[in-house]
Amino acid sequence: MKVTLSVIKADIGGYVGHTDSHPDVIAKAEEYMARAKKAGLLVDYHVTKCGDDLQLIMTHQKGTNNGDIHKLAWDTFCAGTEVAKALKLHGAGQDLLADAFSGNIRGLGPGTAEMEFEERGSEPIVIFMADKTSSGAWNMPLYKMFADPFNTIGLVIAENLHDGFAFEVHDIKESKKITFNAPEEIYDLLVFIGAPSRYMIKAVYNKVTNNIAAVSSTERLALIAGRYVGKDDPVCIVRCQGEFPAVGEVLEPFASPILVEGWMRGSHMGPLMPVSVPDSTPSRFDGPPRVIGLGFQLSGGKLIGPRDLLADKSFNLARHQANEMADMMRRHGPFEPHRLPLEEMEYTTMPQVMKKLEGRFVKLD
Ligand code: F6R
Ligand code: MG
Ligand code: MG
Repeated sequence: MKVTLSVIKADIGGYVGHTDSHPDVIAKAEEYMARAKKAGLLVDYHVTKCGDDLQLIMTHQKGTNNGDIHKLAWDTFCAGTEVAKALKLHGAGQDLLADAFSGNIRGLGPGTAEMEFEERGSEPIVIFMADKTSSGAWNMPLYKMFADPFNTIGLVIAENLHDGFAFEVHDIKESKKITFNAPEEIYDLLVFIGAPSRYMIKAVYNKVTNNIAAVSSTERLALIAGRYVGKDDPVCIVRCQGEFPAVGEVLEPFASPILVEGWMRGSHMGPLMPVSVPDSTPSRFDGPPRVIGLGFQLSGGKLIGPRDLLADKSFNLARHQANEMADMMRRHGPFEPHRLPLEEMEYTTMPQVMKKLEGRFVKLD
């Protein structure tokens, strides 16, 4: 059976501030999803949150980029926004950048990750969702899962992984894409994906079967809106087992927290902390950035689950390390490398301050 998995998300209002989602907004989304399932548009769905982001996980048979599915997501976000407005939640409707839906949700603000595939005999999938960071945050974890034998031993000792994976990389500044083969081209690949604010891994494929292994959302809100309106807070779908890395290999990158951009006002670097869904409540200095991972077995398109995979005790040390890294970064206050370089900051007062001080700058001798 061919099934499409669509994960579409948006921040349509925070509770309190930007730290969490309100249960009434989640309940409204449940209502819309249940109606669509009853009407036969969806095979199944799961609604969740990551921090202040509402996450719609949907299965159907309409393929990727389908107008009906995108409209369902848009309508659900609009209805949730009404609830958020009634409660005066913070930033109600903030990620809905267009006044009306026009056929496709891409470019309108919400983040999307979708894949269509033939459901295998056993189809384990993990959906990662992050808050207070941007789309490039998946670059290193995806590289580790699909190209690093120190993370994924299957690349070395499992026959169906041994030929490697192909990485589709998007240049989001110039709207171009390129595909790299791993392991042959990893040095070339790393030249690009090591700069995650511009080059992002959009998708990964098994090189032998060409089957899709992973897909991520690469929308950059600031580029869409032309100004800061909120963080991208990306999502990523990964298929596991068999010709793909095992669930444990897919989760392993998050055991070693890395620094990502997007903390406080979208203008700071901070550690990406793996947490459970209930712990996705970025509170300290509006952070630190969080990642959750929900596991499902698909069964005829039905989402069997979820298992809250990053809740596992084996990520306790990573959480502790992330907190220590957070302290270390906070020590820098308004200085780089905690604060992002000038051109990367989402908030800045530089133009106003520069204008005010224009006449006081004098040439060096
Ligand atoms: C939002 C975020 C927050 C906000 C900050 C200011 O995802 O990262 O750190 O940028 O709380 O928010 P506003 O401008 O809404 O007062
Ligand atoms: Mg928010
Ligand atoms: Mg958010």
